[in-house]
Amino acid sequence: MGFKLNIATISLLLILTSTARAQSGVFDVRNYGAQANGDITLVQGTLQAPGDPSFFKDASWVTLERIDSLTLSGGGTFDGQGKTAWGKNDCSKNKFCSPLPINIRLNFVTNSEIRDITSLDSKQFHINVLGCQNVTFRRVTITAPEDSLNTDGIHIGRSTGIRIIDSHIGTGDDCVSLGDGSKDIVVKGVSCGPGHGISIGSLGKYDGEEPVVGVKVIGCTLTKTMNGVRIKTWPNSFDGAASHMRFENITMDNVANPIIIDQVYCPYNQCQAEIPSKIKISKVSFENIRGTTTTKQAVQLHCSKALPCQNVQLRDIDLAYNGNDGDAISECINVTPNIDGIQNPPACSVKA
Ligand SMILES: *[C@@H]1O[C@H](CO)[C@@H](O)[C@H](O)[C@H]1NC(C)=O
Ligand SMILES: *[C@@H]1O[C@H](CO)[C@@H](O)[C@H](O)[C@H]1NC(C)=O
Repeated sequence: MGFKLNIATISLLLILTSTARAQSGVFDVRNYGAQANGDITLVQGTLQAPGDPSFFKDASWVTLERIDSLTLSGGGTFDGQGKTAWGKNDCSKNKFCSPLPINIRLNFVTNSEIRDITSLDSKQFHINVLGCQNVTFRRVTITAPEDSLNTDGIHIGRSTGIRIIDSHIGTGDDCVSLGDGSKDIVVKGVSCGPGHGISIGSLGKYDGEEPVVGVKVIGCTLTKTMNGVRIKTWPNSFDGAASHMRFENITMDNVANPIIIDQVYCPYNQCQAEIPSKIKISKVSFENIRGTTTTKQAVQLHCSKALPCQNVQLRDIDLAYNGNDGDAISECINVTPNIDGIQNPPACSVKA
């Protein structure tokens, strides 16, 4: 075969809106004129997923797998038809649940660009990036309602050299979440909201997780989100590490928790919060982060008692609490950050 590296199949499970009766199947797009190392240009239309979650065999709608040098573009929309499914998602509480399908999965894709597409109302995560290298997302739009469960925008794991540039993400969960093994990641010019913010983690839940190394979040705006920029690790965790993370030039517009390191992340109280996290966090900088907070907790650095955070920098932080019952605060637990420039609220005004 005349293909370049790492070619297996491009499998697209498509339901075309133009067909009156829903059709399904796995298509190898090479049979439809696409090169395995070439371009997929969506017509400027909408691909619509079946509404019924039980239709999907593996937790995925569209999967792009083992492709080198792909460009996916063209202005089209992947409509996951999530409304019927969100109410059925109990995976946060039930570990035997069947996971709902993700709109787009990129598995082991290299040297590729995804641009000018929209992902709408996914049943679960919108885009999941696994085992990829050198992939850029540019001018991508991701939209789901604020109350849709677990609809993370772009989730990255075990991937190197991934960039998310000039994109708009508003969902019911994290706009961007970076799982274990995320390396050399850039999130730049992204507007996020509604949603839970831009997150590293959660880390430490599973044995054998790879470190997170090298994350830059630059020039982003968060609007009315639950969190701004966040690093979260489970208590009573397995060993792990996250380092070299930089958050710079970020605007917070009515964000509930703008800056947060949370090493006792424990949603639904499914963990032993009193046993400290064993994820080592180091080399983190928060620089030029400005705007408004809707709770007093503008800055929360809650590091692990077992492994205090090291080399944390706060530089030019200016976050105003827009309530009328006092001023914003900055909490530092098991961390002594380096402080530079403006500090509003005063750095570590609450210590423990
Ligand atoms: C990364 O991928 C782009 C295509 O999106 C390609 O032009 C570039 O050469 C790749 N970089 C490396 C270092 O391979
Ligand atoms: C952050 O903003 C400042 C002032 O506009 C600019 O000089 C700096 O290069 C920006 N940082 C990054 C990493 O783009």
